[in-house]
Amino acid sequence: MKPKVYITRRIPEHIVKRINKTCEVRMWDHEDIPIPYEILEKEIEEIDGLLCLLTETIDDALIRKAKNLKIIANMAVGYNNIDINSATTHGIMVTNTPDVLTETTADLTFGLLMATARRLIEASDYLKSGEWKTWSPMQLTGLDIHGATLGIIGLGRIGEALVRRAKGFDMKVLYSNRSRKYEQEYELGINYTSLENLLLESDFVCVMVPYTSETKNLIDSEQLSLMKENAVLINTARGGIVNEIALYKALKYREIWGAGIDVFENEPVSLDHPLLTLPNVVTLPHIGSASIATRTKMANLAVTNLMTALQNEKPQNLLNDIYFIN
Ligand code: DGY
Repeated sequence: MKPKVYITRRIPEHIVKRINKTCEVRMWDHEDIPIPYEILEKEIEEIDGLLCLLTETIDDALIRKAKNLKIIANMAVGYNNIDINSATTHGIMVTNTPDVLTETTADLTFGLLMATARRLIEASDYLKSGEWKTWSPMQLTGLDIHGATLGIIGLGRIGEALVRRAKGFDMKVLYSNRSRKYEQEYELGINYTSLENLLLESDFVCVMVPYTSETKNLIDSEQLSLMKENAVLINTARGGIVNEIALYKALKYREIWGAGIDVFENEPVSLDHPLLTLPNVVTLPHIGSASIATRTKMANLAVTNLMTALQNEKPQNLLNDIYFIN
Protein backbone atom coordinates (compact mmCIF):
# COMPACT_ATOMS: atom_id res chain seq x y z
CA MET A 1 0.00 0.00 0.00
CA LYS A 2 1.27 3.48 -0.90
CA PRO A 3 2.00 5.85 2.02
CA LYS A 4 -0.57 8.61 2.44
CA VAL A 5 0.61 12.22 2.33
CA TYR A 6 -1.27 15.43 3.03
CA ILE A 7 -0.10 18.88 1.82
CA THR A 8 -1.71 21.81 3.61
CA ARG A 9 -1.53 24.37 0.77
CA ARG A 10 -1.23 24.42 -2.99
CA ILE A 11 2.38 23.97 -4.11
CA PRO A 12 3.58 23.83 -7.74
CA GLU A 13 2.22 20.83 -9.63
CA HIS A 14 5.61 19.57 -10.78
CA ILE A 15 6.69 19.34 -7.14
CA VAL A 16 3.53 17.47 -6.13
CA LYS A 17 4.30 15.02 -8.96
CA ARG A 18 7.50 14.01 -7.18
CA ILE A 19 5.40 12.66 -4.32
CA ASN A 20 2.59 11.32 -6.51
CA LYS A 21 4.84 8.65 -8.00
CA THR A 22 5.18 6.73 -4.77
CA CYS A 23 2.52 8.12 -2.44
CA GLU A 24 -1.18 8.76 -2.31
CA VAL A 25 -1.41 12.55 -2.10
CA ARG A 26 -4.17 14.80 -0.90
CA MET A 27 -3.81 18.56 -0.81
CA TRP A 28 -5.64 21.58 0.57
CA ASP A 29 -5.84 23.05 -2.92
CA HIS A 30 -6.03 26.75 -2.13
CA GLU A 31 -3.47 29.49 -2.50
CA ASP A 32 -4.70 32.11 -0.06
CA ILE A 33 -6.94 30.26 2.38
CA PRO A 34 -5.26 28.37 5.21
CA ILE A 35 -6.61 24.95 6.01
CA PRO A 36 -9.10 25.07 8.92
CA TYR A 37 -7.83 23.27 12.02
CA GLU A 38 -10.90 20.97 12.07
CA ILE A 39 -10.16 19.71 8.56
CA LEU A 40 -6.51 19.07 9.35
CA GLU A 41 -7.64 17.27 12.50
CA LYS A 42 -9.53 14.78 10.32
CA GLU A 43 -6.88 14.51 7.59
CA ILE A 44 -4.05 13.84 10.02
CA GLU A 45 -5.67 10.69 11.43
CA GLU A 46 -4.70 8.30 8.62
CA ILE A 47 -1.72 9.91 6.93
CA ASP A 48 1.95 8.85 7.01
CA GLY A 49 3.44 12.18 6.00
CA LEU A 50 2.43 15.82 6.43
CA LEU A 51 3.85 18.75 4.48
CA CYS A 52 2.77 21.94 6.22
CA LEU A 53 3.49 25.66 6.35
CA LEU A 54 4.21 28.08 9.18
CA THR A 55 0.53 29.06 9.08
CA GLU A 56 -0.53 25.69 10.55
CA THR A 57 -0.41 25.15 14.28
CA ILE A 58 0.69 21.58 14.74
CA ASP A 59 0.03 21.23 18.45
CA ASP A 60 -0.09 18.30 20.84
CA ALA A 61 -3.85 17.81 20.42
CA LEU A 62 -3.43 17.50 16.65
CA ILE A 63 -0.40 15.23 16.88
CA ARG A 64 -2.30 12.89 19.20
CA LYS A 65 -4.94 12.34 16.50
CA ALA A 66 -2.33 10.94 14.11
CA LYS A 67 -2.22 7.14 14.08
CA ASN A 68 0.45 6.51 11.43
CA LEU A 69 2.28 9.80 11.06
CA LYS A 70 6.06 9.46 10.57
CA ILE A 71 7.05 12.92 9.38
CA ILE A 72 6.00 16.54 9.66
CA ALA A 73 7.89 18.41 6.94
CA ASN A 74 7.61 22.16 7.53
CA MET A 75 8.12 24.39 4.52
CA ALA A 76 9.95 27.09 6.51
CA VAL A 77 13.18 27.47 8.41
CA GLY A 78 11.29 28.54 11.55
CA TYR A 79 9.32 25.82 13.28
CA ASN A 80 7.69 27.54 16.23
CA ASN A 81 4.34 26.43 14.77
CA ILE A 82 5.10 22.80 15.66
CA ASP A 83 5.12 21.18 19.10
CA ILE A 84 8.44 19.39 18.63
CA ASN A 85 8.37 17.77 22.08
CA SER A 86 5.02 16.21 21.38
CA ALA A 87 6.19 14.99 17.94
CA THR A 88 9.30 13.46 19.51
CA THR A 89 7.26 11.75 22.22
CA HIS A 90 5.11 10.21 19.51
CA GLY A 91 8.12 9.16 17.42
CA ILE A 92 7.34 11.60 14.61
CA MET A 93 10.18 13.26 12.71
CA VAL A 94 10.09 17.03 12.17
CA THR A 95 12.06 18.78 9.45
CA ASN A 96 12.49 22.37 8.25
CA THR A 97 13.99 24.07 5.16
CA PRO A 98 17.13 25.97 6.18
CA ASP A 99 19.93 27.30 3.93
CA VAL A 100 17.92 27.57 0.70
CA LEU A 101 16.29 30.80 1.92
CA THR A 102 19.27 32.43 3.62
CA GLU A 103 20.36 34.85 0.89
CA THR A 104 16.82 35.76 -0.20
CA THR A 105 15.78 36.58 3.36
CA ALA A 106 18.94 38.64 3.89
CA ASP A 107 18.13 40.54 0.66
CA LEU A 108 14.66 41.38 1.95
CA THR A 109 15.95 42.34 5.39
CA PHE A 110 18.47 44.75 3.92
CA GLY A 111 15.86 46.04 1.46
CA LEU A 112 13.43 46.71 4.30
CA LEU A 113 16.16 48.50 6.23
CA MET A 114 16.80 50.73 3.21
CA ALA A 115 13.10 51.32 2.53
CA THR A 116 12.57 52.38 6.15
CA ALA A 117 15.66 54.58 6.40
CA ARG A 118 15.02 56.35 3.09
CA ARG A 119 11.21 56.41 3.44
CA LEU A 120 10.71 54.72 0.07
CA ILE A 121 7.08 53.66 0.52
CA GLU A 122 6.08 57.06 1.89
CA ALA A 123 7.89 58.81 -0.99
CA SER A 124 6.19 56.66 -3.60
CA ASP A 125 2.77 57.30 -2.03
CA TYR A 126 3.59 61.02 -1.89
CA LEU A 127 4.18 61.11 -5.61
CA LYS A 128 1.19 58.97 -6.58
CA SER A 129 -1.22 60.95 -4.42
CA GLY A 130 -0.28 64.19 -6.20
CA GLU A 131 1.40 65.81 -3.19
CA TRP A 132 4.69 66.37 -5.03
CA LYS A 133 4.61 70.03 -6.04
CA THR A 134 8.30 70.89 -6.09
CA TRP A 135 11.76 69.72 -5.09
CA SER A 136 12.53 71.00 -1.63
CA PRO A 137 15.69 70.77 0.53
CA MET A 138 14.32 68.83 3.49
CA GLN A 139 11.45 67.06 1.74
CA LEU A 140 11.18 63.33 2.60
CA THR A 141 14.64 63.28 4.12
CA GLY A 142 15.66 60.07 5.82
CA LEU A 143 18.69 58.44 7.36
CA ASP A 144 22.04 57.48 5.86
CA ILE A 145 22.76 53.79 5.72
CA HIS A 146 26.39 53.95 4.60
CA GLY A 147 28.78 54.33 7.50
CA ALA A 148 26.06 53.67 10.12
CA THR A 149 26.24 51.01 12.85
CA LEU A 150 24.18 47.88 12.35
CA GLY A 151 23.33 45.70 15.36
CA ILE A 152 22.31 42.12 14.64
CA ILE A 153 20.50 40.28 17.43
CA GLY A 154 21.13 36.59 16.72
CA LEU A 155 23.99 35.75 14.37
CA GLY A 156 22.72 32.71 12.49
CA ARG A 157 22.99 31.98 8.78
CA ILE A 158 20.72 34.87 7.75
CA GLY A 159 22.48 37.25 10.13
CA GLU A 160 25.82 36.41 8.54
CA ALA A 161 24.39 36.95 5.05
CA LEU A 162 23.11 40.33 6.26
CA VAL A 163 26.60 41.28 7.45
CA ARG A 164 27.97 40.72 3.95
CA ARG A 165 25.40 43.15 2.55
CA ALA A 166 26.09 45.69 5.30
CA LYS A 167 29.82 45.56 4.63
CA GLY A 168 29.12 46.68 1.05
CA PHE A 169 27.66 49.82 2.58
CA ASP A 170 30.66 50.42 4.87
CA MET A 171 28.59 49.74 7.94
CA LYS A 172 30.12 48.92 11.29
CA VAL A 173 28.50 45.71 12.53
CA LEU A 174 27.86 44.64 16.12
CA TYR A 175 26.18 41.39 17.07
CA SER A 176 24.78 39.77 20.16
CA ASN A 177 24.25 36.06 20.36
CA ARG A 178 23.86 33.26 22.91
CA SER A 179 27.39 32.17 22.14
CA ARG A 180 30.28 34.20 20.81
CA LYS A 181 31.39 33.37 17.25
CA TYR A 182 35.11 34.07 17.05
CA GLU A 183 35.58 32.71 13.53
CA GLN A 184 32.82 34.90 12.09
CA GLU A 185 34.18 37.92 13.97
CA TYR A 186 37.53 37.41 12.29
CA GLU A 187 36.18 36.55 8.83
CA LEU A 188 33.43 39.17 8.65
CA GLY A 189 35.06 41.94 10.68
CA ILE A 190 32.27 42.28 13.23
CA ASN A 191 32.21 42.87 16.99
CA TYR A 192 30.47 40.89 19.70
CA THR A 193 28.65 42.80 22.41
CA SER A 194 25.84 42.45 24.95
CA LEU A 195 22.24 42.99 23.88
CA GLU A 196 22.10 46.15 26.02
CA ASN A 197 25.20 47.65 24.46
CA LEU A 198 24.05 46.73 20.97
CA LEU A 199 20.79 48.59 21.56
CA LEU A 200 22.63 51.61 22.95
CA GLU A 201 25.11 51.88 20.08
CA SER A 202 23.33 50.79 16.91
CA ASP A 203 21.69 53.02 14.31
CA PHE A 204 19.90 50.00 12.83
CA VAL A 205 18.88 47.02 14.95
CA CYS A 206 17.90 43.81 13.14
CA VAL A 207 16.10 41.06 15.05
CA MET A 208 17.25 37.67 13.74
CA VAL A 209 16.71 35.16 16.55
CA PRO A 210 14.33 32.19 16.32
CA TYR A 211 11.04 32.49 18.19
CA THR A 212 11.04 30.40 21.37
CA SER A 213 9.66 30.80 24.89
CA GLU A 214 12.98 32.50 25.74
CA THR A 215 12.87 35.05 22.93
CA LYS A 216 9.18 35.98 23.32
CA ASN A 217 9.09 39.76 23.95
CA LEU A 218 12.89 39.88 23.91
CA ILE A 219 12.48 43.45 22.65
CA ASP A 220 10.08 45.15 25.03
CA SER A 221 9.69 48.73 26.30
CA GLU A 222 12.84 48.44 28.44
CA GLN A 223 14.97 47.39 25.47
CA LEU A 224 13.39 49.95 23.13
CA SER A 225 14.14 52.69 25.65
CA LEU A 226 17.85 51.91 25.29
CA MET A 227 17.82 52.59 21.55
CA LYS A 228 18.94 55.91 20.08
CA GLU A 229 16.24 58.43 19.21
CA ASN A 230 17.20 58.22 15.55
CA ALA A 231 17.53 54.45 15.46
CA VAL A 232 15.53 52.01 13.33
CA LEU A 233 14.29 48.56 14.34
CA ILE A 234 13.93 45.86 11.67
CA ASN A 235 12.16 42.56 12.33
CA THR A 236 12.05 39.83 9.69
CA ALA A 237 12.25 36.94 12.18
CA ARG A 238 8.98 36.35 14.05
CA GLY A 239 6.33 38.70 15.41
CA GLY A 240 6.25 37.72 19.05
CA ILE A 241 9.94 38.51 19.58
CA VAL A 242 9.14 42.24 19.62
CA ASN A 243 6.34 43.44 21.86
CA GLU A 244 4.12 45.22 19.34
CA ILE A 245 2.41 47.56 21.78
CA ALA A 246 5.74 48.65 23.26
CA LEU A 247 7.02 49.21 19.71
CA TYR A 248 3.95 51.22 18.82
CA LYS A 249 4.50 53.52 21.80
CA ALA A 250 8.21 53.93 21.10
CA LEU A 251 7.45 54.92 17.50
CA LYS A 252 4.48 57.12 18.27
CA TYR A 253 6.33 59.11 20.92
CA ARG A 254 9.45 59.19 18.75
CA GLU A 255 11.60 57.35 21.23
CA ILE A 256 12.97 55.64 18.13
CA TRP A 257 12.95 56.95 14.55
CA GLY A 258 11.31 54.14 12.62
CA ALA A 259 10.68 50.45 12.13
CA GLY A 260 10.49 47.95 9.30
CA ILE A 261 8.30 44.99 10.14
CA ASP A 262 7.80 41.90 7.99
CA VAL A 263 6.35 39.66 10.71
CA PHE A 264 3.55 40.05 13.25
CA GLU A 265 2.47 38.23 16.36
CA ASN A 266 -0.84 37.37 14.70
CA GLU A 267 -0.77 36.95 10.94
CA PRO A 268 -2.36 38.26 8.86
CA VAL A 269 -2.18 41.37 11.01
CA SER A 270 -5.55 42.98 11.61
CA LEU A 271 -6.11 46.19 9.67
CA ASP A 272 -6.91 48.10 12.84
CA HIS A 273 -3.58 47.19 14.43
CA PRO A 274 -2.09 50.41 15.91
CA LEU A 275 1.27 49.89 14.16
CA LEU A 276 -0.46 50.29 10.80
CA THR A 277 -1.54 53.82 11.69
CA LEU A 278 1.99 55.18 12.01
CA PRO A 279 3.85 56.97 9.19
CA ASN A 280 7.27 55.86 10.45
CA VAL A 281 6.70 52.11 10.01
CA VAL A 282 7.14 50.10 6.83
CA THR A 283 5.01 46.97 7.05
CA LEU A 284 5.21 43.87 4.87
CA PRO A 285 3.15 40.64 4.80
CA HIS A 286 5.87 38.15 5.86
CA ILE A 287 7.70 38.00 2.51
CA GLY A 288 11.28 37.40 3.70
CA SER A 289 11.83 34.30 1.56
CA ALA A 290 9.36 35.21 -1.17
CA SER A 291 11.33 34.91 -4.40
CA ILE A 292 10.11 32.45 -7.03
CA ALA A 293 13.38 30.53 -6.98
CA THR A 294 13.62 30.31 -3.19
CA ARG A 295 10.01 29.33 -2.54
CA THR A 296 10.43 26.62 -5.20
CA LYS A 297 13.59 25.39 -3.47
CA MET A 298 11.82 25.39 -0.10
CA ALA A 299 8.93 23.31 -1.45
CA ASN A 300 11.36 20.88 -3.10
CA LEU A 301 13.43 20.56 0.07
CA ALA A 302 10.32 19.94 2.19
CA VAL A 303 9.31 17.20 -0.28
CA THR A 304 12.78 15.64 -0.21
CA ASN A 305 12.70 15.57 3.60
CA LEU A 306 9.23 14.03 3.54
CA MET A 307 10.10 11.33 0.99
CA THR A 308 13.36 10.44 2.71
CA ALA A 309 11.55 9.93 6.01
CA LEU A 310 8.86 7.81 4.35
CA GLN A 311 11.64 5.56 3.05
CA ASN A 312 12.74 5.09 6.67
CA GLU A 313 15.88 7.08 6.15
CA LYS A 314 17.15 10.09 8.03
CA PRO A 315 16.08 13.33 6.35
CA GLN A 316 18.75 15.97 5.81
CA ASN A 317 17.00 18.57 7.96
CA LEU A 318 15.80 16.46 10.86
CA LEU A 319 15.14 18.60 13.94
CA ASN A 320 14.40 15.97 16.57
CA ASP A 321 16.03 12.78 17.83
CA ILE A 322 14.16 9.90 16.28
CA TYR A 323 15.48 6.41 15.69
CA PHE A 324 14.95 4.56 12.45
CA ILE A 325 13.56 1.07 11.98
CA ASN A 326 14.58 -0.31 8.60
C1 DGY B 1 10.65 30.87 7.52
O1 DGY B 1 11.01 30.06 6.66
O2 DGY B 1 10.64 30.61 8.71
C2 DGY B 1 10.24 32.23 7.05
O3 DGY B 1 9.69 32.99 8.04
C3 DGY B 1 9.34 32.13 5.86
O4 DGY B 1 10.13 31.88 4.80
